Amino acid sequence: MNHFTQFENRPLADQLIEKALAYKNNPRMDISKGLGKRVGCIFLNPSLRTRASTQIAAMNLGMEAIVMNMDKEGWALEMKEGAIMNKGTVEHIKDAAAVMGTYFDVLAVRAFPSLVDKKEDSEDYIFNQFIKYSGIPVISLESAIRHPLQSLADMITIQENILSSTKPKVVLTWAPHIKAIPHAVANSFAEWTLGCGHDLTITHPEGYELDDKFTKGANIEYDQKKALEEADFVYVKNWSAFNDYGKILTTDPAWMLRETHLNKAPQAKVMHCLPVRRNIELSDEILDGKRSLVQKQAENRIYSAQAVLSMILE
Ligand code: CP
Repeated sequence: MNHFTQFENRPLADQLIEKALAYKNNPRMDISKGLGKRVGCIFLNPSLRTRASTQIAAMNLGMEAIVMNMDKEGWALEMKEGAIMNKGTVEHIKDAAAVMGTYFDVLAVRAFPSLVDKKEDSEDYIFNQFIKYSGIPVISLESAIRHPLQSLADMITIQENILSSTKPKVVLTWAPHIKAIPHAVANSFAEWTLGCGHDLTITHPEGYELDDKFTKGANIEYDQKKALEEADFVYVKNWSAFNDYGKILTTDPAWMLRETHLNKAPQAKVMHCLPVRRNIELSDEILDGKRSLVQKQAENRIYSAQAVLSMILE
């Protein structure tokens, strides 16, 4: 594996899940694998889980992680080719990423979308500039359109909590939010869930259709109540509109998951990538109840990052 940016294929996903579970069982079993190697973790946006779990994962492999919060501590980066840099930007991505390529063995990058320029976001332009100019393996810590380390942790969590040998019914449900939120988590969750062979239903108000390149093969159901029937796993997430790009079309509180929504899904476990706005996106009763897997997902972020780093070091 060179870069880690998206779901590639089922055998690789299965291999990563197996590796992550082995690390969860014995986190330091490969403590000398990364000795003398450095990963640069570049954040253009805030983070709690991704930052800490990637650092812990690197430490578990004997690797050094250097974190740079470029949004707060670095030079303001210019991303446009051929820009005349007479405004606020100080350093071109071409120069900065090339320097990073000489300092680190692996680069890990978080670069959120603008939610304004649909074409640039859909091409993952900023994230791809790091790949283009660093010349070293790059891991996505969440790009404009995908969050693969989160999705890998989610697949590990589903595998650990499957109750029967039959294909689980997985439901991705839109939730209300007060801000315009990127599509990356929802896109990636759909991509990995379908890629791993699970049965996926996506439910959202009309107008919140995701880019169909991520949802082909999923059942789209606008009736949330119907979608949730007999669900084994319910993934709760807000995203802004994709067609009416970056817009909030509704904040209808009826879409916020409560116990009553799951009357016909007695076994359902509930997932969310965090951070979550309590009692806006998801109710206290679900988050603090027995159905919630959110802390397990967050813990599995360590082992998803460790499996990916380990495979890149190979
Ligand atoms: N789920 C997730 O990526 O969390 P952070 O934004 O805190 O890293």
